[in-house]
Amino acid sequence: MRTAVLELLKRNSGQYISGEEISQLLKVSRTAVWKHIRSLKQAGYEIEAHPRLGYALRQNTDRLLPEEIKTHLTSKVLGREIHYFSEVDSTNNAAKKLAAGGCPEGTIVVAEAQNTGRGRLSRGWFSPYGKGIWLSVVFRPPFSPMDAAKCTLMAAVAVNRAVNAVAGAGCGIKWPNDILCNGRKVVGILTEMSAEMDAINYIVIGMGINVNIDPHEFPGEIAATATSLAAVAGCQIPRLKLFTEILAELESAYNTVKNFGFAPVLAEWKNQSITLGQQVDVHGIDRSFTGLATDIDDDGALLVTTASGVARVLAGDVSI
Ligand code: BTN
Repeated sequence: MRTAVLELLKRNSGQYISGEEISQLLKVSRTAVWKHIRSLKQAGYEIEAHPRLGYALRQNTDRLLPEEIKTHLTSKVLGREIHYFSEVDSTNNAAKKLAAGGCPEGTIVVAEAQNTGRGRLSRGWFSPYGKGIWLSVVFRPPFSPMDAAKCTLMAAVAVNRAVNAVAGAGCGIKWPNDILCNGRKVVGILTEMSAEMDAINYIVIGMGINVNIDPHEFPGEIAATATSLAAVAGCQIPRLKLFTEILAELESAYNTVKNFGFAPVLAEWKNQSITLGQQVDVHGIDRSFTGLATDIDDDGALLVTTASGVARVLAGDVSI
């Protein structure tokens, strides 16, 4: 019913519509109308209330509110259950709790801000209010836990497609799953898994996309390495459009993997890669070295040719 009230307000495009009219059109009491208006306001919609004229929706919100997402959603499974937070510690933490509690595959968690957003290798993730997409998706894939690392590459391919389509940004993927524009990071992906020896309980793929952040806002050392899509494109990027495009591309890539295996996605990763063919510095868990990044293998490991042979890199940091 809240959605129906919202639809009426939207259809009236900024003009007032009386509580009486809404109650008649939707066949609910005036009190019910008032309650739904209050709940829409609490959710973040700017609605003006006039004692004689009624209610008017002031502007189309740029917030990633579930009602807005659902209106534009084209994916069928991803986003069928949406958990929205104005602020949360980390969308990955929230998604993992939901996944452990049995939520369906495709459940998403989205927040306007994260106060302890998490990055790879125990780093933090800068997640200011309303300026990015801080999103986690729950998957329950029928793959072996050995294939989990490749899900991260799958996500990078999907998000890269979406950012290039919506922001026209000319981005590429740095191994394993950073998305860079003009040498600076615009997207980071954090994949977390719960599994038994031979089966995955769930995978949470968390994506942080710097959408409309002014580069001056990046704190400390991030400022030297990060940028935003708006900074690259030279204009504000519609977050909602990008958000639903990401879900559509992620669902399409996931379906490809389920139907045909990882090979097509790995081939696309190679095409979108900015790492292959480059001299790279590898900072692994127990070793650091330099070499030429030549390929990724069927497991998604980066192959680096060094003076002493070909090194297979499965985890760690790679700088170009
Ligand atoms: C990286 O270090 O590159 C990965 C960054 C991942 C950030 C995203 S934002 C949404 C989700 N929630 C988190 O706490 N982290 C991921």
